[in-house]
Amino acid sequence: MVNTKMNLCGIEIDNPVMPASGTFGFGYEFAELYDINVLGSFSFKGTTLEPRFGNPTPRIAECTNGLINSVGLQNPGVTDVIGQELPKLAKCFNKPVMANISGFAIDEYVEVCKQLDKCDQVGWLEVNVSCPNVHNGGMAFGTDPKAAAAVVAAVKKEVTKPVIVKLSPNVRDIVAIAKACEEAGADGITLINTMLGMRINLKTGKPVIANKMGGFSGPAIFPIALRMVYQVYEAVNIPIVGCGGVSTAEDVIEMIMAGATAVQVGAANLVNPYACRDIINDLPAAMEKYGINSLEEIIGGAH
Ligand code: SIN
Repeated sequence: MVNTKMNLCGIEIDNPVMPASGTFGFGYEFAELYDINVLGSFSFKGTTLEPRFGNPTPRIAECTNGLINSVGLQNPGVTDVIGQELPKLAKCFNKPVMANISGFAIDEYVEVCKQLDKCDQVGWLEVNVSCPNVHNGGMAFGTDPKAAAAVVAAVKKEVTKPVIVKLSPNVRDIVAIAKACEEAGADGITLINTMLGMRINLKTGKPVIANKMGGFSGPAIFPIALRMVYQVYEAVNIPIVGCGGVSTAEDVIEMIMAGATAVQVGAANLVNPYACRDIINDLPAAMEKYGINSLEEIIGGAH
């Protein structure tokens, strides 16, 4: 019997597999398809202080081995997330959930984090400084070590739950940003959000996406995500949540060997809503195939 348990920032999870933010709604939508308690956890849709309608459509462009999204942080705002969404989730999920938080100013990050920090259902605060689809926020904080650290430090002063900062791959030196976040007090790091990309519609001669560009995700970015997890693992002493193009149990094992303690699955949920359940089912056999008894023992094993 293999052991898939992990400990992410002091919270034990049955397995490392968790749907990534923005690909699993607030969870209860998927509970209509399967028992979502099989998940290690999941990260819910990026939440801001005020409700957001998001970007104009089209917001999605299909690509070879992935897709581009420019959703623009559509969400009902933190008051409704706490008052409406989390109570619905409580009816079908009995594990700690990861709250994904976005903002346009440091004060906004702090306020949303403070409110979600008080929710019993929330295990971790995933501070997203990496959304490529909004102006003056999101990725603007995550592409500069000082700005990312300033968000982390401000949030950490006001909350009690572990703060995991989600970083952008659209940077020159991911290690410098990760180290700045660790020094500012981050309890963990999620790597990576989407890569800025675009498509052009040959019939119209114009960008497919109304916002012109968006975040590219899917299996094509897996090697980039893996490389960044590997590099950052060598530089920091806090846990890493690997994310980017993961679609099989083997990908999960690779991410853990690179240095991840938990592994998020994103675009795969949009192709197959059962993707996370299937990966979790496949994980023990994949571990046995490679002679792995315990996932915890292979964290960073490739170094
Ligand atoms: C979005 O809502 O635009 C995606 C969120 C993200 O990439 O962080």
